[in-house]
Amino acid sequence: MSNDRTAVSANKDIATPEIIDLHPPEEAIRDLMVDGLGASSKTLPCRLFYDERGSELFELICEQPEYYLTRTELAILREHLPEMADMLGPKCDVIEYGSGSSIKSRLLLHALHEPAVYIPVEISCTMLEQAVANLRQEFPNLEIMPVCADYMQDIDLPRREGDRRMEFFPGSTIGNFHRDDALRFLKRSARFVGGGGALLIGVDLIKDPAELEAAYNDAAGITSEFNINLLDRINRELDADFDCDWFRFRAIWNPELHRIESYLISERDQTVHIDGETFAFATDERIRTECSYKYDLPLFAELAAEAGFEVEHVWTDPQQRFSVQYLVAT
Ligand code: AVJ
Repeated sequence: MSNDRTAVSANKDIATPEIIDLHPPEEAIRDLMVDGLGASSKTLPCRLFYDERGSELFELICEQPEYYLTRTELAILREHLPEMADMLGPKCDVIEYGSGSSIKSRLLLHALHEPAVYIPVEISCTMLEQAVANLRQEFPNLEIMPVCADYMQDIDLPRREGDRRMEFFPGSTIGNFHRDDALRFLKRSARFVGGGGALLIGVDLIKDPAELEAAYNDAAGITSEFNINLLDRINRELDADFDCDWFRFRAIWNPELHRIESYLISERDQTVHIDGETFAFATDERIRTECSYKYDLPLFAELAAEAGFEVEHVWTDPQQRFSVQYLVAT
């Protein structure tokens, strides 16, 4: 997101077991859609993929044989978490953005030496409630302070003075941010964890274009369904009339911008109506639905440095497909 909104304050009572609700805004979905589709190069925002069906499809994507990201990151974490935990040190405050199904958070929390408090930040309050209920059973002695918020906003998270803070941002979610947004996110993280604080982040790496394109064009067609669901979602929520049979999905590697670009492509001339507006599509006209940026190590180190982080350690798999990076705020 390009505009900083006003900061909102959290209830700072550290003992409160309830969810801190920073009122994530009701997404102005209509405006987002209409703005994106009204532009001369049509786009839709990728974070709108994740309604209930979209979140299910995403979990399925992670299991596809071509989608190496999740599997590889988990293997790196399983192998190196003890070393990561030693570097992070005891009694950290752990902040996680977009905690999702929380498999990775559980691995981290088990590995860390006496984590002081766990603060998952998640935009979906229902997902957050579910995850926290499970974590409270699994970690009865861990203090958990769930915050329901949009982490791209300038939110004011609870903090305990004197504790070392670390943020956990796995999954290569940073790959969905254009450079300016990635920089803004990292700057805010550096400011929040403070000098000596840490960020443990998953970053997908530049590799053979064929392998990248295969990961985003899985043979089973799940990623295609995931994209088509976005049109379905507009139909459902905005009473629109996309004919999903007349759009096909394709993901393409852009070497100049080192990113995978995902497209829905119109298979004929057609018009679509969304909440009183009409949009014309020519044959082969594309809607760009997502960018997934990939980095090499120098490129990411440079971005991190500009944001106020130093890369202290990088773990990769043997094929250098994916990296988990330990950054320290300077
Ligand atoms: C969740 C942003 C890491 O870009 O690889 C997976 C989302 N899109 N397949 C990615 C996604 C299509 C994913 N991230």
